Amino acid sequence: MAAVRRKVSILGATGSVGKSTLDLIERSPDRFEMVALTAASNVTALAQAAKRTNARLAVVADEARLGELEQALSGTACRAAAGRDALIEAAAAEADLVMAAIVGCAGLEPVMAAVEAGRTLALANKEALVTAGSLMTEAATAAGATILPVDSEHNAIFQCLAGNRLDDVARLVLTASGGPFRSKGAEEMARATPEQAVAHPNWSMGAKISVDSATMMNKGLELIEAAHLFPVPEERIEVLVHPQSAVHGLVQYADGSILAQLGTPDMRTPIAHALAWPDRMAVSLPRLDLAALGRLDFLPPDPARFPALRLSRDALRAGAGAPVVLNAANEVAVALFLERRLGFLDIAAVVEEALDLLGAPPVRGLDDVLALDAQARHEAARMAARHAAA
Ligand SMILES: NC(=O)c1ccc[n+]([C@@H]2O[C@H](COP(=O)([O-])OP(=O)(O)OC[C@H]3O[C@@H](n4cnc5c(N)ncnc54)[C@H](OP(=O)(O)O)[C@@H]3O)[C@@H](O)[C@H]2O)c1
Repeated sequence: MAAVRRKVSILGATGSVGKSTLDLIERSPDRFEMVALTAASNVTALAQAAKRTNARLAVVADEARLGELEQALSGTACRAAAGRDALIEAAAAEADLVMAAIVGCAGLEPVMAAVEAGRTLALANKEALVTAGSLMTEAATAAGATILPVDSEHNAIFQCLAGNRLDDVARLVLTASGGPFRSKGAEEMARATPEQAVAHPNWSMGAKISVDSATMMNKGLELIEAAHLFPVPEERIEVLVHPQSAVHGLVQYADGSILAQLGTPDMRTPIAHALAWPDRMAVSLPRLDLAALGRLDFLPPDPARFPALRLSRDALRAGAGAPVVLNAANEVAVALFLERRLGFLDIAAVVEEALDLLGAPPVRGLDDVLALDAQARHEAARMAARHAAA
């Protein structure tokens, strides 16, 4: 008897993680069935992917692009839709797995819609968990939703925790490549251009996460993400710089044993894990060659050149709305840096100022998170303008 095909939706199908997910799904058409695909504005890539995969629904967030999408999909069975409500419809549509690969807090409402609908969520969109972690994990428990981490570090830890108890965990270790400025001096970092910042030594990713890797805010966001996914005391979650990006995450247990997950720096490995979970799927990708690699280096991060890590841990400790402020200010500052309107080192400075100003206000629900996100964006833009003028 033929196996039942797994129904999948991809939020953010035109991005780096979205395209890697499509690649895996298109290699195994007997295993998967496409339900919905979404994009912000890239109608051409969205429509092409919808046609190739016979998706039932394609959603573009930008409502002004609906006509273009309808035209691109005419003659197919795929329905075109646009705007916020349509994104939420795509996220909640009946599917066995929803890949959350929108970048930034823009993904929060769709992610929450998928969780509240009780879907199994493959979560790449870390900003959603950073900004609404407790709300999301509570909603998942209430709705019976499962959150599978796709971020390679969290996916690694998830795999290393299988069959063990969180109570026995001595520490969780997130590895970090250190990004393109790992061994650069502060003066060079101050002059860094967007091109230099997005030139990640090991991973090929979207622009925003690449800049986050260069500031190490990515690892800070991942620290907060880890605290929600794996509820151990915050001081038991550590970051280690590992330039080879071969070991993605480690778990040390009370008896001293360390379990690690290794692989090539290719997101298709953790994505394949989530797509097939709790089974495994065969993926023909280059394999990690340990003999060719020869050595694995680990070193502590430098808190002076990478203040984003400290700011993130402070926000995690402060709780409530502090991670919302941290994330919003970072999104604003990174976007301005990519537009060459803010210096590289100003990114962390703006985040710190926003946290100093807004602190950790209470957030009781999604509306509070979204309101605080908007307020923090407004303040961060004001602070960034001051830095840019200085
Ligand atoms: N890339 C990686 O290797 C990697 C690894 C681990 C975790 N992640 C996480 O995965 C997420 C996606 O990262 P990425 O690198 O794939 O990003 P990306 O390449 O920039 O792609 C982002 C996707 O989200 C869509 N999008 C952007 N803004 C949107 C909005 N306002 N409303 C609806 N859709 C929107 C984009 O559509 P358009 O194409 O139309 O703009 C695109 O499909 C991030 O949270 C990132 O931190 C990524």
